[in-house]
Amino acid sequence: MAGSFEVEQYSLSKLRQFHERFLSFSNKIVKGHCKLWVSESISALVVIGLFLSFLLATVCAYFYVFPRYQPAAVRTYRVHESSNSVGKCNVFEGKWIPDESYPLYNASQCPFAEPGFNCLANGRRDRGYQKWRWKPKNCDIPKFNVQEILGKLHGKRIVFVGDSLSRTQWESMICLLMTGVEDKRDVYEINGNKIAKKIRFLGVWFSSFNLRVDFYRSVFLVQPGPAPRRAPKRVKSTVRLDKLDDISKEWIDSDFLIFNSGHWWTPTKLFDMGCYFQSGGSLKLGMGITSGFRSSLKTWAAWVETSINRNRTRVFFRTFESSHWIGRNRNSCKVTRRPWLKTKGRDRSRISDIIIDVVKKMTTPVAVLHVTPMGAFRSDAHVGAWSDNPSVPDCSHWCLPGVPDTWNEILLSMMLSKNGLTT
Ligand SMILES: *[C@@H]1O[C@H](CO)[C@@H](O)[C@H](O)[C@H]1NC(C)=O
Ligand SMILES: *[C@@H]1O[C@H](CO)[C@@H](O)[C@H](O)[C@H]1NC(C)=O
Repeated sequence: MAGSFEVEQYSLSKLRQFHERFLSFSNKIVKGHCKLWVSESISALVVIGLFLSFLLATVCAYFYVFPRYQPAAVRTYRVHESSNSVGKCNVFEGKWIPDESYPLYNASQCPFAEPGFNCLANGRRDRGYQKWRWKPKNCDIPKFNVQEILGKLHGKRIVFVGDSLSRTQWESMICLLMTGVEDKRDVYEINGNKIAKKIRFLGVWFSSFNLRVDFYRSVFLVQPGPAPRRAPKRVKSTVRLDKLDDISKEWIDSDFLIFNSGHWWTPTKLFDMGCYFQSGGSLKLGMGITSGFRSSLKTWAAWVETSINRNRTRVFFRTFESSHWIGRNRNSCKVTRRPWLKTKGRDRSRISDIIIDVVKKMTTPVAVLHVTPMGAFRSDAHVGAWSDNPSVPDCSHWCLPGVPDTWNEILLSMMLSKNGLTT
């Protein structure tokens, strides 16, 4: 303490010298009756300055002596560092906060980010949409540590199954993991295939980690089929609600299996196209979309219960990914610069409710990635007109890097934690 007071004394005398010199200087330039007033107010300022620096020194010395009384900011940081409590809190309840350390990769340097989702390369100018971090209400998502994650995923097979939003998550996962791979040639699609919208299978091999990250396109999860004979003319094709997709046998041999479905369960993609539900031998012409979806999920659940080796495979199901179509027919798309402050009801989805309900009744543990609420805020993060087809604006898919990276940060933290299935 003596030392710090010596420093104080020293700077005090320095300041006094400076003050005197400054006063003599001001005496020379300030003439008339103002002179006295100016020098007095300068003296007052110096005294206030000295008092403030003394106060600051005292406060610093106090925290030096009693380090446990830290300012709140420091304490919060410590909590953030040590918490790894994803399994104990609802990570899907929270808010987006600005974070300059994002994004986690550059899509132009990732060969598996498809051109249609690389919004910056397609002309988007604002970048703020890339700089948001999801902050769960009662915990933190562990900071993305690619080396640790790659180490733990050695020898594993991760399989994504679903529609194009599943493909986005698959692309995001590969781009995230590739940031930890020095020689990018070590990562390649096993058949040399390029990403295409209707391709049924893409498998990426991380050869130096003996790791596979696969994607199977199965938009309904159950089996599409031709119209049965003697069906009414309007029936052009069917979705077989009682039969899982015939490529499902290829999903079984996996360590992590991540499903989604939802965006194809709409009248425009089904009934308007002449596609109706079928169960067993019979057409279900009167069956609505939500009943059809629930029925297909029950088929999926039964398949999981009988086909999946619980000792090896961890199963996840992602809920509906909020879209931001606006207008009377919900068919126009305006991507905002910042996230919405309110979810405007888009945090709820009947599709998500059905998924949560069906999974709850299963005996095989399935972790629900309930991404609907977090996406509801992100009116700023869609592809919009910055896709490979700007004439068709898109408020369903997301720019990469972006929101699907957050799904993966949460997914990875659950995959790598022992009790990660309890959410
Ligand atoms: C991403 O990478 C491309 C190609 O290397 C580069 O031109 C661009 O400036 C990078 N973008 C950012 C945001 O760093
Ligand atoms: C899973 O592990 C349990 C306990 O170790 C064992 O009893 C069971 O037979 C295993 N099941 C399978 C399908 O391997």
